[in-house]
Amino acid sequence: MEQVTRALGGRIAYGADYNPEQWPEEVWDEDVRLMQEAGVNLVSVGIFSWALLEPTPGDHDFGWLDRVLDKLHAGGIAVDLATATASPPPWFLERHPEATLVDQVGNRRAFGARQAYCPSSTAYRDAATTLITELVKRYDEHPAVVMWHVNNEYGCHNDHCFCDASAVAFRRWLADRYGAIEKLNEAWATAFWSQRYTSWEQIGPPRQVSYGNFANPGQQLDWWRFCSDEIREIFRVEAAAVRAHSDKPLTTNFMGFRKSLDYRSWVDVEDLVSNDHYLIADDEDRTQQLAMTADLTRSLAHGEPWLLMEHSTSAVNWQPRNIAKTTGEMRRNSFQHVARGADGALFFQWRASRGGAEKFHSAMVPHAGTESRLWRDVVRLGADLSAIAEVSGTKVAQAGVAICFDWESWWAATFDSHPSVDVDPMATARAWHKACWARNLGVDIIGVTDPLDGYEVVVLPVQYLLSDEAVARFTAFVEAGGTLVATYFSGIVDEHDHIRLGGYPGGLSDLLGVRIEEFCPLPEGDEIPLTSYGSGTIWSERGRAVGADVVAAYATGDCAGDPAVTRRRVGRGTAWYVGTELTPEALDTLATQVFTTTKPVVGGLPEGVEAIRRVGEQGTYVFVINHTHEAVIVPVRGTDLLSGNDGGPHVVRAGQVAVIREE
Ligand code: GLA
Repeated sequence: MEQVTRALGGRIAYGADYNPEQWPEEVWDEDVRLMQEAGVNLVSVGIFSWALLEPTPGDHDFGWLDRVLDKLHAGGIAVDLATATASPPPWFLERHPEATLVDQVGNRRAFGARQAYCPSSTAYRDAATTLITELVKRYDEHPAVVMWHVNNEYGCHNDHCFCDASAVAFRRWLADRYGAIEKLNEAWATAFWSQRYTSWEQIGPPRQVSYGNFANPGQQLDWWRFCSDEIREIFRVEAAAVRAHSDKPLTTNFMGFRKSLDYRSWVDVEDLVSNDHYLIADDEDRTQQLAMTADLTRSLAHGEPWLLMEHSTSAVNWQPRNIAKTTGEMRRNSFQHVARGADGALFFQWRASRGGAEKFHSAMVPHAGTESRLWRDVVRLGADLSAIAEVSGTKVAQAGVAICFDWESWWAATFDSHPSVDVDPMATARAWHKACWARNLGVDIIGVTDPLDGYEVVVLPVQYLLSDEAVARFTAFVEAGGTLVATYFSGIVDEHDHIRLGGYPGGLSDLLGVRIEEFCPLPEGDEIPLTSYGSGTIWSERGRAVGADVVAAYATGDCAGDPAVTRRRVGRGTAWYVGTELTPEALDTLATQVFTTTKPVVGGLPEGVEAIRRVGEQGTYVFVINHTHEAVIVPVRGTDLLSGNDGGPHVVRAGQVAVIREE
């Protein structure tokens, strides 16, 4: 990100996807003028312009793009130039019908929207490489271009393809992973249900199986791994095509907690991490969900500044009810991302479209034009971001808490044929993140193999799949003085999704000091009272403590007296086990105990007022985002870069934001 920031003269990036090809050329001059008025300094150009840049295979038309880039450069707007490969034109499938996407049932998915290609198609990779080579050779030296935008939201609409070419690629991936078919048979436990394979050709993707039945879980897990790797491979191919002719930084825009893509294994392909984030309107905790996604993105970037590539100025168009953002919400959202480490806030898109499937999606220039509240807010946000330019390059202060969230475990924990459909690692992770968010504790969302240095508390929410190595690392963390909180359905299986025998939670039993003998999931919606904290939902268990203190037991029912929450002192640290899904109130009470010594970024703020500190050589900055309807007094001294107010404590009014450079 540093290189991009430098190219922007040290400013925070501000802008949008810019799709000039949707408009007549007369509009382009007005676009540049309005971008200047709004303080826009970076736009992503050409994301969906393959069909214009290569109208027929091998014939390129770059004239219009030359003119667009020249105008932007003349206007002082930098460009994140897209490889334009996000969506192949109609001629591509006409020439390569074998690249058609096929769903799990075997239906072919037609052209007519976007991303209509099979990720394993070599024809797609070849066609993309040809276009990228022409484009990068032509524009690498263009003074407007400061970075490359490779593809767009990979796998958003084509993350799993079940066609024959995918089957071949899957077999190749399996052969690489296992070497010998017997190893695969072992990993997939094919002794069960007469599934033993004797040749690779017998294996396919987990297509829809016999009625009311379950595909082999080992096959499912490897399929999810393969699909994520396969799409990452396209990214590698495209990135290599860019790098063959350019040294400029490149990125691809992630989609946060996108279940099918294990982004942790993707980040080494790119030079900077960028993410797209959209609020889900009917999520009551959408503000916290935004914060959690930003915490994930920063962790993916290993704490370095990252780029918010897309968010929305107001409503989107793809939810059942597309709720407009309320007064000040866009500004608060943008500042949340920047507070949590983004050095830029870009939108989808610059000008709201007249036609096409996204014409009702908000943009920086709305259909109403500049005589609108939205436009005034856009201009104000540009001025605000320019006022905090000195923050760029700083990093979010060391977090006290880490929540582990691993894609492999997420996949495996949510397959069919499990004890309860209500188990949801994401929901449990969110509940713990919310407990931190409400207390203004710094949190990172890390992977089980990420370093644990610097954290006081590490949370394992439904970390179902755990390797021996990860267990050893968590044990060492606790022995050295750390606090670990592991929930139910953690440590249950190894990397092959095989149960760890001898009592649950398998890998973690010794560390936590509990032996669970049987899972007792609850009927839908039921709560089970505990002897302290309150109640649990979804899950209960039959078992006993073996070395841990039982701090809450099940109070009623068949598991009455068995441990629900335990604590064990290990070495200099503490290991907690939470054997049920605590209700929000119960979790809040437990969290107060767990986090007693973990310091908030700013103490004494009510829930709904976020405070995050960014730290750099130039100083330390406290971002305060007041999501509540009341003014709040923030006990921090310094200058608010937004209002210019000096001193402190600072009053941050309802719905407002402050960025305080500390004295
Ligand atoms: C994604 C895509 C954009 C646009 C937006 C709409 O983020 O990358 O092209 O479709 O969604 O919200």
